[in-house]
Amino acid sequence: MHSFVSVGLLAAAGHHDSSQVPKDFPWTFWPECYSNENTTEPYCVFTSQNFASGRGIFIVDTATNAYQFLQKPAFADPNALRRVNQYSNPSFEQREFPGKGRGLVANKTLHRGDQIFASTPLIIANTDVYDLVDSERLALSHRGVEQLPSTSQTLFWSLLDHFKGDPVDDRINTNAFEVYLLGGQVKHVVLPEIAMLNHDCRPNAAYFFDEDTLSHYVHATQTIYPGEEITITYINNERAREKRVANLKMNWGFECSCSSCSAHPELVSQSDDRIQQMRDIASALDDWTPTSTATPEAAELLISLYEQERLYASLGVAYKHAAETYASFGDKWNAMKFARLSAEYEVLDKGFGDVDVGAMRKMAEDPEMTWSWKKRVGFERRGVGACGHVH
Ligand SMILES: *[C@@H]1O[C@H](CO)[C@@H](O)[C@H](O)[C@H]1NC(C)=O
Ligand SMILES: *[C@@H]1O[C@H](CO)[C@@H](O)[C@H](O)[C@H]1NC(C)=O
Repeated sequence: MHSFVSVGLLAAAGHHDSSQVPKDFPWTFWPECYSNENTTEPYCVFTSQNFASGRGIFIVDTATNAYQFLQKPAFADPNALRRVNQYSNPSFEQREFPGKGRGLVANKTLHRGDQIFASTPLIIANTDVYDLVDSERLALSHRGVEQLPSTSQTLFWSLLDHFKGDPVDDRINTNAFEVYLLGGQVKHVVLPEIAMLNHDCRPNAAYFFDEDTLSHYVHATQTIYPGEEITITYINNERAREKRVANLKMNWGFECSCSSCSAHPELVSQSDDRIQQMRDIASALDDWTPTSTATPEAAELLISLYEQERLYASLGVAYKHAAETYASFGDKWNAMKFARLSAEYEVLDKGFGDVDVGAMRKMAEDPEMTWSWKKRVGFERRGVGACGHVH
């Protein structure tokens, strides 16, 4: 029942010999596929050894989705990947950190917005492939790894595995990032280079996955001096220390050792208080009812708290709150200032095509044309924590 099947879109040529694919066939091998009563369309492994100038990729997905990926500029536009997979003269070097493993250290000064590197995944996998029985799901990922160009196979095998079990599956599970592609479908992508960057709860770099180029971009979010380690966050840092430590342990299998996790309990408690206050202010600023306690002063405090917490990589969120809050009270110039700042920071964290980034760019040009403009003019200004008393 769970046998090797051919896929409608592919079956026309009538080939099943993976060594002989028809001329102009977009994949390097004939796709291996499986289905069962729980799948609506077979899942196959689609490998292109030519992708990204010979770096190669394999996609574990339905034929419908795989052919949608083929339409993306990453496959269709020869210039789309010019800034990607360039490792010949990087601005960093690998270093071994005692007790922590390898990491990347800047060897020249990096400024906010500098691209540290960008790379294409070796694997894109549909997360619903778990509808297949394990042996078939594993057969697809093993086949995919075997079909990658040999340098990419070496990169794949250099990835760490934490959980034991099937060696291919382990490496995928330990290193996969979740991204939303093709109209919001969850996919797992495996990017070997990102694994070189260590986690920090107060990172100096941010990353996003760009759907057009099917590429993962890493940028500096603040000045990074030569000799400093380049770090990213693997988790949401706007949470209390205890939750951060638990999340890292559960999903990534390591003890959080960054300074904000290992600080004196007194300092940890101050930091947790600041984070709680950030959450309270953010929810007040998100309250658009006439009893909202939102004020520009509260938005300025939110920015200050992000800075006090050294959450520079996430400052774009605070700037967005400030831009909308100023706009809601009809303060055009401050709305423009903070909208610019938000767009500048958030593009590094959310990507070129992100809707929030687009909205902030619009506000930076014309606050009067955005949805929040003067929304709170006429509201009494109450202030966060003032319990409804008019100041
Ligand atoms: C299909 O799903 C049902 C319900 O989850 C499960 O019991 C069954 O084993 C699945 N069939 C296959 C072939 O995995
Ligand atoms: C930084 O290190 C890389 C090796 O990772 C090297 O190729 C590059 O030339 C170095 N750059 C500088 C400015 O030293």
